[in-house]
Amino acid sequence: MAHRPYIVGNWKMNGSRTMLAEARAIDRAALRYPEVQIALAPPFPFVGLLREAVNAIGIGGQDCHTAAKGAHTGDVSAAMLADIGADFVILGHSERRRDHHESDSLIRAKADAALAAGLGIIVCVGETLDERDAGQAEAVVSAQVDGSLPLGDAALEAAQAYKLAVAYEPVWAIGTGRVAAVEDVVAMHAAVRERLAAAYGDAGAKVRILYGGSVNAENAAGLLAAQGVGGALVGGASLTADAFLPIVAAAGQGEG
Ligand code: PGA
Repeated sequence: MAHRPYIVGNWKMNGSRTMLAEARAIDRAALRYPEVQIALAPPFPFVGLLREAVNAIGIGGQDCHTAAKGAHTGDVSAAMLADIGADFVILGHSERRRDHHESDSLIRAKADAALAAGLGIIVCVGETLDERDAGQAEAVVSAQVDGSLPLGDAALEAAQAYKLAVAYEPVWAIGTGRVAAVEDVVAMHAAVRERLAAAYGDAGAKVRILYGGSVNAENAAGLLAAQGVGGALVGGASLTADAFLPIVAAAGQGEG
């Protein structure tokens, strides 16, 4: 049986005490959608505040270091996120791959650290427009899945427990208002699913594959009903309850 659809808001570098009211409104509304797993990932300073502000939804970080502690000024460890009550961490977002030159192997090391700390993970993958135009999209994304997902017993256990997710986010669709065509999303999710089966065997079927890139109230239903789409990673439309909740509602009606 398919697991609950997973709708995750990625606040990126947006957040304030004022925005706690949005998180509270999303949390209250979450009770109406028990069939949907809902989470928000704010910037680090707000992870603990959101944790205390909400009850029903998951809270996560947007990155973590590979080490549990030590001399790494400005970094935050997975153990710290877990200690303040985070449930999961987003890893390898294309903005971090670009801005911080994160490689697949670094992302895998972060994923190992996150699993060791007991966090769930969402590993992001996605091709650039040049790569898609060159017919390389599936090869690029497959290589990212092969290279950045964690392996070994901890990863298998996490997959079994539905604590692993992959977010397919075409770079050209992020924050641009351009959404991938549903048939392209279906094809890519099938390609990712194959790589997950290669990595985890039967447990690969338990890894949810989210779509991300300009998901909003208008396009969510079509995307979430598509074959193999297990949820959405939402940026801009996760910053207010008014924009985010219609996406949650759409997930409640999708196939999951
Ligand atoms: P967007 O961002 O919804 O603003 O396009 C999605 C993401 O980058 O996770």
